[in-house]
Amino acid sequence: MKNVCILGSTGSIGTQTIDIIERLPGEFRVVALSAHSNVRLLAEQANRLGSAHACIVSDAVAPGELRDELSGGNTRIYRGVEGMCEIATLVEVDVVVVAVAGAIGIRPTHAALKAGKNIALASKEVLVAAGEHTMRLARESGAKILPIDSEHSALFQCLQGAPEGSIERLILTASGGPFRTLPVEELATVTVEQALKHPTWNMGGLVTINSATLMNKGLEIIEAGWLFEVPTDSVDVVVHPQSIVHSMVRYRDGSVLAQLGLPDMRLPIQYALVYPERLDTALPRMAVADYANLTFEEPNLAKFPSIGLARSASAAGGTMPCVMNAANEEAVGLFLERKLPYLDIMRKVEDVMGRHNPVEAAYDNVLHADSWARAAVRVGTN
Ligand SMILES: NC(=O)c1ccc[n+]([C@@H]2O[C@H](COP(=O)([O-])OP(=O)(O)OC[C@H]3O[C@@H](n4cnc5c(N)ncnc54)[C@H](OP(=O)(O)O)[C@@H]3O)[C@@H](O)[C@H]2O)c1
Repeated sequence: MKNVCILGSTGSIGTQTIDIIERLPGEFRVVALSAHSNVRLLAEQANRLGSAHACIVSDAVAPGELRDELSGGNTRIYRGVEGMCEIATLVEVDVVVVAVAGAIGIRPTHAALKAGKNIALASKEVLVAAGEHTMRLARESGAKILPIDSEHSALFQCLQGAPEGSIERLILTASGGPFRTLPVEELATVTVEQALKHPTWNMGGLVTINSATLMNKGLEIIEAGWLFEVPTDSVDVVVHPQSIVHSMVRYRDGSVLAQLGLPDMRLPIQYALVYPERLDTALPRMAVADYANLTFEEPNLAKFPSIGLARSASAAGGTMPCVMNAANEEAVGLFLERKLPYLDIMRKVEDVMGRHNPVEAAYDNVLHADSWARAAVRVGTN
């Protein structure tokens, strides 16, 4: 029985993690949960799963609100990012699922790694913004970082048993998002509703917009570089609208290994939780013959500048990927608040990156660069 802490338990990945855990009775015990402000769902989860610890992060939630929703007095309540750090480092926790949206996951992930906890990582922003430090902490404590992102799970699966020095290229697949076929001149007027309509995946707001801009792939290039210790210029992106091939590895003998499956995040979540086992949780099966047309095409880098920005950020190194990620998170937030047109998301990111001189990505520098980039995006926007 493994004890699990889920950071971001009320989100898309968090709720699907709970679904998998409930399909594996006797394998996992949920001991700690966190949410930003969704008190009702957090309490419902804690009550149903008997979680002994629950953390609410938003200051806007009144102190008694969670207590009122919890049945009985058996769940200890925590507050803020500090609270997430506390529940992620509890002695009884074996694995921490990091499924919060955005770079807010950095501190609790680092606290958990320092305490030697294994991490099942969905929040790609942690590695994008603080990859070097995160990987160092994992090496020092011997804790494992297992990817939940479907592309990285696919790569991880294709890399099992890979001899050292045998990888030629990692190939990330991208659905292409809702605007893949939209004429470029129509991008200027796309709405929040259009951008939130993902063709194949059902995800939270930030990651869905990142899929529309393809920034998601930009972040994943950097994430793959850290996770698999390869230079990011050996990570390619190919558009695959059916989202069936989740990513590929090309080996030095020319052989390409791919991992296929239905677009269902529960499969990579399960693999991260039970690795290296393969367990049957009765997830829907893919009938291969139903997929007669799997197509692949080059991404349109002019229409989607995010991939080029991510490559520049990676080449610049230091705090630049952190700045790119923070600027993107803020600009997406403004777009979702309808204060910024779609095309200005990447313009803001590029502008803020252009004004940043990267320094070594030491922990304090990362935090400073993150807040500077967020403020820089917000300047002049009400
Ligand atoms: N969804 C997917 O299919 C998918 C696939 C691959 C990778 N990912 C990655 O997984 C992460 C989570 O994505 P998601 O789609 O699950 O997001 P989501 O549905 O928006 O859920 C985010 C979770 O984080 C919490 N949260 C949000 N802002 C927070 C803050 N400032 N402080 C603390 N907690 C906060 C939310 O709490 P409330 O509910 O209270 O707001 C919620 O529990 C992202 O990094 C994303 O890139 C997601």
